[in-house]
Amino acid sequence: MSSLTETPAWRALADHCRTTGGHSLRNLLAAGEARRAALTKGLDGFVVDFSKNRVTDETLGLLLDLARARGLEDRRAQLFAGERINNTEGRAALHMALRGHAGDAFKADGAFVDDEVAAQLTRIDRLVNAMERGERTGVTGERFTDIINIGIGGSDLGPRMACRALSTYRRAALSVRFVANVDATDISEALHACRPETTLFLVSSKTFTTQETLTNALTAKRWLTDALGADAVGRHFAAVTANPKAAREFGIKDDMRFAIWDWVGGRYSVWSAVGLPLALSVGMRAFRAFLAGGRDMDRHFLEAPLADNLPVLLGLLGVWNRNFLGAAAHAVLPYDQSLEHLPGYLQQLAMESNGKAVDRDGAPVGAGTEPVLFGQAGTNGQHAFYQLLHQGTDLVSADFIAAAEATNPSGDHHDKLLANCLAQSAALALGRTDDEARARLKTGEAESLAAHKAFPGNRPSTTILLKRLDPRSLGRLVALYEHKTFVEAMIWGLNPFDQYGVELGKELAAPLLGALGGGAEPDGIDPSTRGLLAAIRAFRGVGR
Ligand code: F6P
Repeated sequence: MSSLTETPAWRALADHCRTTGGHSLRNLLAAGEARRAALTKGLDGFVVDFSKNRVTDETLGLLLDLARARGLEDRRAQLFAGERINNTEGRAALHMALRGHAGDAFKADGAFVDDEVAAQLTRIDRLVNAMERGERTGVTGERFTDIINIGIGGSDLGPRMACRALSTYRRAALSVRFVANVDATDISEALHACRPETTLFLVSSKTFTTQETLTNALTAKRWLTDALGADAVGRHFAAVTANPKAAREFGIKDDMRFAIWDWVGGRYSVWSAVGLPLALSVGMRAFRAFLAGGRDMDRHFLEAPLADNLPVLLGLLGVWNRNFLGAAAHAVLPYDQSLEHLPGYLQQLAMESNGKAVDRDGAPVGAGTEPVLFGQAGTNGQHAFYQLLHQGTDLVSADFIAAAEATNPSGDHHDKLLANCLAQSAALALGRTDDEARARLKTGEAESLAAHKAFPGNRPSTTILLKRLDPRSLGRLVALYEHKTFVEAMIWGLNPFDQYGVELGKELAAPLLGALGGGAEPDGIDPSTRGLLAAIRAFRGVGR
């Protein structure tokens, strides 16, 4: 494949951007209702308004040309066919099979996976039902009241985000906690809030080698066995892993071990048994509705024409904003407190998938890839970082997400929430000119203040509006972002399914851990790190 920026489709977009100046949202929005209608797409109960993006029909046409030129449709077909799209690790990426129907006949590497997936789902169902009926108890015969999920990255962020998003669907009898950080504060606080007799631990780790997870799991095991004896482990621990041997050695019984496959990446795993905390928290009916929502988006991604395809448009606009308009960051702004963990979840999805500088073949991409993704629930962020979104020197693109119906209706709270959401995207788009700012100065205010009160505007955003936040719409939303990430990766030519960038730090930590424990200083250590190591030892009064 020729260098991305040298391709005719890329050059055509660059020329278009240069000649149009990247478009003015004031002018585009003034074009009226027809443009808005054309740029609003959706499924039932799920609307995406793209019209506050700096694009015309011509821009979209050129972006779609780019998608075709980059082989997006073929790549999508390879993804769904279970080919080894994760070329650097020689694996399929088939998370869609986890939410498929029996008839979808997903194959990974030529072998049908539907039966295995269905078998695991049945086991999840059984555990959830047994817990609900109180048939599965701890060693003392007491019912479980608390679940502690121990996992990190994809084994934490998905179920943590989804449990929070659907907290109004939560069964009262169980509370679910999440422990990820190797900092003992995390596990200590969780244990402090629980009783050993009524606590079930879910150790979620695809590899079952992750330092943070194993350290926390061992601390939890000690806490449990100190109170209830070694035999309690078999009843109070379950695991989700692709490494059954390590789980067995830890003491997890086979009937409490759930499988995950090498064709499910960690950050795409919430649909698997990694989603057990969600299934236990909201029940199987809601969990299956979440899966169904994911499948809705899969079908849409596969079947809708590119020009009406939500993940395709979201991904192409991501490329337009990043590469042609120069947005260095992308804000995810859910106007819904229940979605407060969505930005953190999407950080891993987007930045671990597409935070890469070389393409599938190891050649430099030659263009900017994933922007920094950040965000917070609105309206809180308005009182923190929106100043920069409105008047900062860098362009930040944004996604606003809101639900028309309130999750917790109360007075006019929800109207106020939605009014703020709509106002912010309008303010970012339209801004306020110097003249408008001057005209609004109060009597006695200095003219010079107008420059401070003007807003450049022309800041692009997309608004995703749900009828309501429920398991199905959440499934659609998460799968939308998964496929958006895939679309962007295909344009940039990346493999979004590996994450070698996390390895170096892990490798360097091992000898430093030895040194902190009193061992020798690692060879070849740089002066800064050596100095910091010495300072830690000095603060601790070691080695003086
Ligand atoms: O941070 C690297 C990573 O491998 C993530 O991709 C993954 O989600 C996380 O660690 C946890 O991995 P595991 O599920 O194997 O413990």
